[in-house]
Amino acid sequence: DWTMGAYREEAIQKIRDQVGDAKVICALSGGVDSSVAAALLHEAIGDQLTCVFVDHGLLRLNEAEEVVGMFRDHMNLRVIHAQEQDLFLGELEGVSDPETKRKIIGKLFIDVFQKYADDIEGARFLAQGTLYPDVIESVSFSGGPSVTIKSHHNVGGLPEKMGLKLVEPLRELFKDEVRVLGRELGLPASFIGRHPFPGPGLAIRCPGEITREKLDILRKADAVYIDQIRKHGLYDEIWQAFVAILPVRTVGVMGDGRTYDYACALRAVTSVDGMTADYYPFSHDFLGETATRIINEVKGINRCTYDITSKPPGTIEWE
Ligand code: XMP
Repeated sequence: DWTMGAYREEAIQKIRDQVGDAKVICALSGGVDSSVAAALLHEAIGDQLTCVFVDHGLLRLNEAEEVVGMFRDHMNLRVIHAQEQDLFLGELEGVSDPETKRKIIGKLFIDVFQKYADDIEGARFLAQGTLYPDVIESVSFSGGPSVTIKSHHNVGGLPEKMGLKLVEPLRELFKDEVRVLGRELGLPASFIGRHPFPGPGLAIRCPGEITREKLDILRKADAVYIDQIRKHGLYDEIWQAFVAILPVRTVGVMGDGRTYDYACALRAVTSVDGMTADYYPFSHDFLGETATRIINEVKGINRCTYDITSKPPGTIEWE
């Protein structure tokens, strides 16, 4: 008889068996997956765990403060807030190709972890919140070439030079199961209910070149959009919602003046596990009101579109 309580006990025992008295560093991204992984590890090995929250400059508005605050204050975990915005944004300068972006971010993640791991004496393991769908979207089909739909940066093992072994306690779970486990571990409901957020962050919601200006605009637009969704009581009905800033400026009018600003796309989908998804059928009233708010409140955006692509054939993210 399979229950999450039993899974939790088993997972804790497995972590203890694997890790012994070595120290573990955990890649805390702020998403539900790595948060639940951190909580589970903390329960299993306490202060042997140090979480590293990498601020790559590709996070949503106020995200770093909220995540670091919650884990340090609410849950008493050891959390290092790695301020590496300049490093990531510098390396991404001028890069538009989606896979190149992912590879750069993935590689820098590993470099950054190495840097922090080197400072933690006895650190021999790196923990990650890899889920089952991440694993199967990256499998190599036997007899054929290695097939990767997208290079998820939290999958695929680590370079040997890092000298760290992987701990992936959520590898057998789907997203909905991770949420159940999170509640079981006492994470706040508001945190467990958060929409998934990809490791590469806003980079893959900013097609074309990534600039600080575009990221700033994107953060503000995204915050207005999520505020609208919450105000209308729709947040929990939606698997994931976000804004993508498009690499195109369009002409508009505001008052007596002509504007020439970015267009954005709103995205919202329903899904069970992220493997397939349907676009969310917002009312026209909601869409109109949201577009008006974004264009009025966010300097730099003068046009809003709504993405009505399902998965497949689209992906949830834009890159
Ligand atoms: P796609 O865009 O592939 O996304 O339909 C499916 C789900 O996965 C998330 N996603 C990622 N999560 N690292 C992550 O941790 C990644 O590189 C990554 N790429 C996509 C996406 O947000 C959605 O929930």
